Amino acid sequence: MMMAAPKLKPAAEAAAGGISIREVSHTYGRAGQGVLALDRINLDIGDCEFHALLGPSGCGKSTLLYLLGGFIPVQQGQIITENGVVTAPGPDRSIVFQNFALFPWKTVKDNVLYGLKKAGFGAEERVKRAQDYIDLVHLTGFENSYPSQLSGGMQQRAAIARTLAIDPRILLMDEPFGALDAQTRRVMQEELRAIWRRTRKTVVFVTHDVQEAVFLADRISIMSARPGRIQHIIDVDLPKDRGEEILEDQRFIQLSEQIWRLVREQAVAATRGAH
Ligand SMILES: Nc1ncnc2c1ncn2[C@@H]1O[C@H](COP(=O)(O)OP(=O)(O)O)[C@@H](O)[C@H]1O
Ligand SMILES: [Mg+2]
Repeated sequence: MMMAAPKLKPAAEAAAGGISIREVSHTYGRAGQGVLALDRINLDIGDCEFHALLGPSGCGKSTLLYLLGGFIPVQQGQIITENGVVTAPGPDRSIVFQNFALFPWKTVKDNVLYGLKKAGFGAEERVKRAQDYIDLVHLTGFENSYPSQLSGGMQQRAAIARTLAIDPRILLMDEPFGALDAQTRRVMQEELRAIWRRTRKTVVFVTHDVQEAVFLADRISIMSARPGRIQHIIDVDLPKDRGEEILEDQRFIQLSEQIWRLVREQAVAATRGAH
């Protein structure tokens, strides 16, 4: 196709392990009469950063995550990782969905093994890695259970093990704890943060839950109501090594309130937009 090159800043190379998002817009449906879901997103996510995308329902969080994963094609702008411009899914980026996405007819172990096989690991390595990651998410003893025999939290842990086992540099998570009860969710948040500290991945975590974002992330992008834009980028200046006790910490409480107000403005705007 003959097209003039879009006038972007030179495709700044993403730092090793990081992601550069440049002027990314996305429209669903036909051009001209479609729904503009994302409007010129610019964002740099650093190596080993835990970045939360926070915003009201329908603001385009999932769309941005799927674009990062290469699951839907980038229409406008560019997404760059250390492997170059993102045009398709790749082994450096893996996703964990809200609804677990496990194969119900496979055991925990076979679910994890399946991902490893697809990623091209050899037979011996697959067995070892599968066990290591099942242990990491505390599912030791449940290797031969089927998803239907596990609680929601355990299913999501199995899904996380399957994704982590293939050792992607970049971990994409779309409201992974959204379907869990409050208590399980809290435990999973703590475990995820601990796992992230140990495995040092770049994480992009989508949520509409302010507390979850502040607890987990180093930086938070607050998105506007549709069309999604990055409205604010907030540094989470809290101890790296944080556990449940941080929830009582004044800094945590104040930051959550400040962010809550910013998100609320967007949620109110979204409601107005709907009328
Ligand atoms: N496949 C699709 N076809 C048409 N519109 C879509 C599609 N997927 C999402 N949208 C619309 O794009 C907007 C952003 O959706 P989404 O990325 O799912 O938002 P979020 O994850 O923040 O809730 C929403 O208004 C949604 O209705
Ligand atoms: Mg979504």
